[in-house]
Amino acid sequence: STVWLGWGSKFGKNLKVFAIDPHIGSSEHIQRFGKIDTFNEFLQNIKAQKLDDIVVPLRCTSYEASTILKEPVELIFIDGAHEYDMVKQDFELWFPKLVEGGIMAFHDTDSYKRDGPRRVVEEFLYKSQFFKDVRFVDSIKYGKKVARNSRLDRIKNHYSLLLLRFRIVIAAKIHLPKTLRKIGKKLINFLQL
Ligand SMILES: C[S@@+](CC[C@H](N)C(=O)[O-])C[C@H]1O[C@@H](n2cnc3c(N)ncnc32)[C@H](O)[C@@H]1O
Repeated sequence: STVWLGWGSKFGKNLKVFAIDPHIGSSEHIQRFGKIDTFNEFLQNIKAQKLDDIVVPLRCTSYEASTILKEPVELIFIDGAHEYDMVKQDFELWFPKLVEGGIMAFHDTDSYKRDGPRRVVEEFLYKSQFFKDVRFVDSIKYGKKVARNSRLDRIKNHYSLLLLRFRIVIAAKIHLPKTLRKIGKKLINFLQL
């Protein structure tokens, strides 16, 4: 995901991308693989993509990085520990640093099993007074920070949440062939306001 963010920045404003990760894995990785260290492989990937001039790796936790980084943030992509309290902490640490008009995005937000990201997104993006244009692309949800959203923004955000729940239920209950799945995805994207 950092590679895509890096390329996005290269094709856009060429701003630095701070990649925050202690590189020791989240609880689900440690359970599955034991002790891990992904830092060197991460650095190699960034170098191979010639993104080392844009990507600044910060080998630390989200909390530690939030005490170091003082600059305003235009886009934050949250994809760290997936427990509810940890995702909520990420939201609380980075929301104040996000500029008005900035985008906050979360990954892995569809799951009802490991549901931390999904719950945080529902509470703090879809039902918030400080976000508008809350939308989804697959399991990524994102919204634009505003000083205070309007009643119409809140109605649109709730409508988008209903659409999302509908999509999750249909995807879980009905097995559609690949082509129909693709058409359904396009239709739901089209229906997002
Ligand atoms: C689901 S992976 C996603 C990694 C990366 N976004 C990607 O797409 O390759 C979650 C990552 O969160 C990191 N992580 C776990 N706890 C963290 C914390 N408190 N702060 C920042 N990152 C954390 C893990 O080391 C792991 O690499």
